[in-house]
Amino acid sequence: MDKISIIGAGNVGATVANVIAHKDLTREVVLVDIKQGMAEGKALDIWQTSSIMDFNTRVVGVTNDYIRTKGSGVVVITSGLPRKPGMSRDDLIKTNAVIVKEVTEKAVKYSPEAIIIVVSNPLDVMTYCAYLAANKPPQRVFGMAGILDTGRYRAFVAEALNFSPKDILSLSLGGHGDHMVPLPRYTSVNGIPIEQLLDRDTINRIVERTRKGGGEVVELLGTSAWYAPGAAAAQMVEAIVDDQKRIFPCCAYLQGEYGLKDIYMGVPVMLGKHGVERIIEIELNKEEKALLMESANSVKQVMDVLDNMKLFEYNE
Ligand code: LAC
Repeated sequence: MDKISIIGAGNVGATVANVIAHKDLTREVVLVDIKQGMAEGKALDIWQTSSIMDFNTRVVGVTNDYIRTKGSGVVVITSGLPRKPGMSRDDLIKTNAVIVKEVTEKAVKYSPEAIIIVVSNPLDVMTYCAYLAANKPPQRVFGMAGILDTGRYRAFVAEALNFSPKDILSLSLGGHGDHMVPLPRYTSVNGIPIEQLLDRDTINRIVERTRKGGGEVVELLGTSAWYAPGAAAAQMVEAIVDDQKRIFPCCAYLQGEYGLKDIYMGVPVMLGKHGVERIIEIELNKEEKALLMESANSVKQVMDVLDNMKLFEYNE
């Protein structure tokens, strides 16, 4: 791929750029930020690691100059405020919806063919907001959260068992919030169900910690995480650029799947060069279904806040 643009050069955006550059997925990464010098400075710093870390990807930064993003194959949107201690992701909607709408429109103007990956919070509704702003098929506009949530979940399971995190396979459904639904029934150590390796209490504790995994970092740092969110978004970019057909939980537009309609939420998808090429429906028991509906309801409440902001013509 010739060019990938990252909108927002905060901690998450810069980390996405850094990981993408290290993987040499593209000839050029363009980092864009609204704050004068921010993207330029971070891009320069990353680019200066190229000879040390052995990559070719040219990393450049610009202040609000979307012309420079022209012709991007993938655009990753990370713009918006991060959480502070005591805030939920949903508290960010009013500020971040305006920002995400504006940056998506600008990015799409110069890269009409781009696949758009949203990372801004509140994730599910910001992905929906970008979809409305981009006016593209939903297969080409989707969000990153499931890889991050399962990344945390897999790390906690690996820690509890003292096994390699690489061998932990897992799935999480639902919105990227405290109601997310990590699925122990679909979690294994290379095929060995975790129920055979961990007791129920430990599994429950891990599920709870996963759900609050973002908040745990916010409490420690006073702002939200970036290494894991950045790496997770870069893994999605890689699957698209290399047309890998990998299966990841991503925030995708549901049109009847899982009994849900017109809502963006985390489900397993196949990622390839066309974006979300398939949504995979898995069988859920009664309890899992109820948790998923609870998560969908909490996403819908935030969607209502977006609707009431009347940012888009459709609801005028
Ligand atoms: C987190 C934020 C980025 O989960 O949503 O860390």
